[in-house]
Amino acid sequence: MLMNGKTVLVSGVLNKYSIATHIANQVVDAGGKVILQIQGGMDHKKLSRVDAAVKDFPDGSVLGRVECDASSPESIRSAIAQAKEMAPELDGLVHSIGACNTERLVKHGIMYTTLEDFQGALNVSSFSYIAMVQEAEKAGMLKDGSSCLALSYLGGEKVVPHYDLMGIAKAALEASNRYLAAALGRRGIRCNILSPGPLKTAAGKGINDFEKIGWHVDANCFSPNRPTQVEAGKAALFLLSDLSMGITAEVLYCDGGYRQNGMHFNHKTPQEESPS
Ligand SMILES: NC(=O)c1ccc[n+]([C@@H]2O[C@H](COP(=O)([O-])OP(=O)(O)OC[C@H]3O[C@@H](n4cnc5c(N)ncnc54)[C@H](O)[C@@H]3O)[C@@H](O)[C@H]2O)c1
Repeated sequence: MLMNGKTVLVSGVLNKYSIATHIANQVVDAGGKVILQIQGGMDHKKLSRVDAAVKDFPDGSVLGRVECDASSPESIRSAIAQAKEMAPELDGLVHSIGACNTERLVKHGIMYTTLEDFQGALNVSSFSYIAMVQEAEKAGMLKDGSSCLALSYLGGEKVVPHYDLMGIAKAALEASNRYLAAALGRRGIRCNILSPGPLKTAAGKGINDFEKIGWHVDANCFSPNRPTQVEAGKAALFLLSDLSMGITAEVLYCDGGYRQNGMHFNHKTPQEESPS
């Protein structure tokens, strides 16, 4: 199988809807093993959702779980050190973490973004990817030929309603990915971005008008409906596996073609609306 003998560190499993859960699911279904990196400080209820999300994974496919606060480089270092105790080397590393001050983002947008909001969003959503890769590399865990992957969104490339500060953080994430790819490329370590369309997850639902954005993408993508977490997980599996060996520094969109739609030609003309 595609991931036989491979171990992937997957961050960002919050519940069964998380994109990270679906990525981990695809990896273990393809014969691989995962180490889950979850946000530190979760209460009992949240931890039980993490457990429930991976309860059907094959026995032995989860090597362990490490906690991490992605806003703290110290915590990232410690999480990677704990992961090394579970697996000395990694074939893949997944950054599926995003957060910002949603209250201000949702209510006010870019014109009211503060330096503190900006730094917080870029720290958790962009720098933590660099820090995870740095720490894994320093710990000697990234095998030659391994694959690093982070999750972005169209709002990092183009203006999407209400995405504001997160769009800036995603743009920084995508640029970080290109420079990581350049720094590690000669060792055959690849770094790519997967950019799914809007998905109903805790993070997705934090965006104002999320439902409307979803309907818009459903109506204007080329596929019958916008892809789900399952398709995002499969695309991630491709980027983590040897099938994508020749691909690095790229952004792969998993949005049913929405981004390539240059004209939304589904409106009636005034004549069609009221024929005289
Ligand atoms: N849902 C969407 O519509 C969508 C679309 C494209 C990209 N993405 C991106 O996919 C990634 C995963 O999001 P998701 O949609 O699966 O939602 P999710 O809410 O399930 O996952 C977000 C994860 O970020 C983690 N996180 C937030 N702050 C953290 C911190 N300080 N330390 C450690 N972990 C922290 C959460 O614990 C959670 O596991 C994010 O980068 C998100 O921006 C989401």
